[in-house]
Amino acid sequence: MSQYRSRILGMGAYVPSNVVTNHDLAAMMETSHDWIVERTGIEERRWVLPGEGGAEMATHASKQALERAGLTAKDIDLIIYATLSPDNGFPGTAVFVQRMLGISEIPCLDIRQQCTGFVYGLSIADAFIRTGQYKNVLLIGSEVHSTGLDKTTRGRDVTVLFGDGAGAAVIGRAVDDKQMILSTHLHADGADAEMLWLEYPASREHPRITEEAMAAGKHYPSMNGKRVFKHAVSKLPAVLMEAMVTNNVQLKDIDMLIPHQANLRINQMVAQMIGMPPEKTHNNIQKYGNTTAASIPICMNEAIELGKIKRGDLVAIIAFGAGLTWGSCLVRY
Ligand SMILES: CC(C)(COP(=O)(O)OP(=O)(O)OC[C@H]1O[C@@H](n2cnc3c(N)ncnc32)[C@H](O)[C@@H]1OP(=O)(O)O)[C@@H](O)C(=O)NCCC(=O)NCCS
Repeated sequence: MSQYRSRILGMGAYVPSNVVTNHDLAAMMETSHDWIVERTGIEERRWVLPGEGGAEMATHASKQALERAGLTAKDIDLIIYATLSPDNGFPGTAVFVQRMLGISEIPCLDIRQQCTGFVYGLSIADAFIRTGQYKNVLLIGSEVHSTGLDKTTRGRDVTVLFGDGAGAAVIGRAVDDKQMILSTHLHADGADAEMLWLEYPASREHPRITEEAMAAGKHYPSMNGKRVFKHAVSKLPAVLMEAMVTNNVQLKDIDMLIPHQANLRINQMVAQMIGMPPEKTHNNIQKYGNTTAASIPICMNEAIELGKIKRGDLVAIIAFGAGLTWGSCLVRY
């Protein structure tokens, strides 16, 4: 049996320079800054400009994470790329990042767990390192939502929520228990797969998309917002509890909570339900909206840059999203 454990060596993030405010959205559809802020906490988000995709954003974030890890791209043994918005139908986007990083041969794995993608990716990276198969894993969450949103009033309940961006972490071997991924906890429930989904184009359909489906807007994401909200506020506290019980950790032992950035109201409600003081949780959805698989690394990276997370701190990560999927991770950063 291998005795290896894993730790986060370095993190990085990148968001496009193009800021889209709530007022900009109000010029495209019937919505308002006040409605969006009141319901979600979001004030602005970033949208890519032509010429920039998920792989480019991921490469920027990865270079920063590698530099902070004190490594170069040649030290990476595996790339995991979490996204719900791959740059193309196939191949997966990780191979494009590999190419942009100037490396080759190493395996590239794209994963599809939406907003829980980064937590699933942490679990996969941790498992590969524990077995001794790989030493350094580059884990990326990267999303381009803006090119696939319904920018009319019909899509306003979904479109105002999402933004583009990328985050990355280099996961390597732990040297002691002062910096270590303690455990990961993953869940899914396909019973509610259609509660939040992008139905078309669909390879199970003949043809994959029709004019009728497009006219009905079925090539845009759709969501039952109220049910997703309820799912989040019940599953997030439960999956955090699961991590705490596994590691015999109490709430007071956790230095910082990094929740997936889907809705500030969800995160405030969850923090209140579990009794986590506001200063021990970090949110930045106000600036970036929901960047799905990228939201956890963008948020955690910012908390590190702000000095809210220091080396050795106990960090709890919780996420939920389409699938439905949800999960948690306890990290001694
Ligand atoms: C999407 C969400 C903000 C909507 O808030 P809500 O309080 O549930 O609002 P409702 O969907 O009930 O809509 C209330 C009204 O606002 C309207 N509305 C919806 N989106 C709007 C927008 N962007 N601007 C203005 N009005 C809007 C609705 O049409 C509805 O109007 P009606 O009462 O005339 O029918 C909320 O449900 C939510 O955040 N859910 C979780 C979503 C999530 O986290 N998704 C990602 C998961 S990873």
